[in-house]
Amino acid sequence: MRFYLLGGAAIALAAVAFFLIASKPEGANAEINVAAVAEEAVLNLYSARHYDTDQRLYSDFTEATGIQINRLEDSASALMARIQAEGANSPADILMTTDIGRLWAAEEADLFQEVSSNILESRIPAKLRDPDGQWFAFSQRARVIFYDKARVDPADLQTYADLADPRWEGMICTRSSSNIYMLSLMAAQIHHMGEDAARAWATGLWNNRARDPEGGDTDQLRGIASGQCAIAVANTYYFARALRREVRGLANPEDTSRIGVIFPNQQTTGAHVNVSGGGILAHAPHPENARLFLEYLASDSAQAYFSAGNDEYPAVEDAPLAPSVASLGEFEADDLMLIILGQNQRLAQEIYDEVGYR
Ligand SMILES: [Fe+2]
Repeated sequence: MRFYLLGGAAIALAAVAFFLIASKPEGANAEINVAAVAEEAVLNLYSARHYDTDQRLYSDFTEATGIQINRLEDSASALMARIQAEGANSPADILMTTDIGRLWAAEEADLFQEVSSNILESRIPAKLRDPDGQWFAFSQRARVIFYDKARVDPADLQTYADLADPRWEGMICTRSSSNIYMLSLMAAQIHHMGEDAARAWATGLWNNRARDPEGGDTDQLRGIASGQCAIAVANTYYFARALRREVRGLANPEDTSRIGVIFPNQQTTGAHVNVSGGGILAHAPHPENARLFLEYLASDSAQAYFSAGNDEYPAVEDAPLAPSVASLGEFEADDLMLIILGQNQRLAQEIYDEVGYR
């Protein structure tokens, strides 16, 4: 059980808030109680997560705290441009987005403030948060290899490096190199292989393309179902979602049972993992409410939603997995500090550009 009080300034305002998070080891039913809040009971959330199921995250927080969430959804780049244009007058308290590349870009643009929170620091593993507390990851997704069971022997395809093997010429589908997931995947290869090998890897992968990159991750999986791609690179939640509910072009079980999943690099670095996450903005008008919200996102009940609602992996260790996610199997994840993926973003784009990967 964890318990804390807000700081002295709030007490001086005689509007003391406290939050009680009872984290039960068995999981999903954290209790949250709030007595009062020093700030107006409002939180302005700018979110680039567009998952319907996230609604439960917001309504549960409001129910527990009385803090109303005003949510503005847009693309990460549009939200970041807006925050910059609004400057010190921005009403935004929190930016939530997907991909470490975007969290890193927001940090580079000085959009976040540093947050110190015992709850966040104890619940979120160090590799999944900024060392200075500017951003925190709340869910994880692995970017892995999917394959047509009729065309590929997974014994031949156990690593990211294997994707560049000429034996797969004309067989692999990926999305475009300008996509942030592809940039972060390259950023990881740069870290593990070194720059020159990463360049050679990008060349090999490009040469193995079944078609010029098109569409999102689900389109790569559809490519396997349609027979255009023998191999695809995609995030785990797109496939887990297709196992759980109807996804156009991916009939279950006709198509999904044809698709196998390989968690790469299990004998070496572990599978590449990316995140969604957020941070408190530098000019947040409601920083205490914002911190309460981030701490809520790290609670057992919120963590369970990330998996059950969007088929992601929780960020908090031992938080429960949705059945669709668990069915993908256990795997070793790359344990590099996410911030390294941020630092390698620019070089990743340069390498893709250099080798002509579109
Ligand atoms: Fe996605």
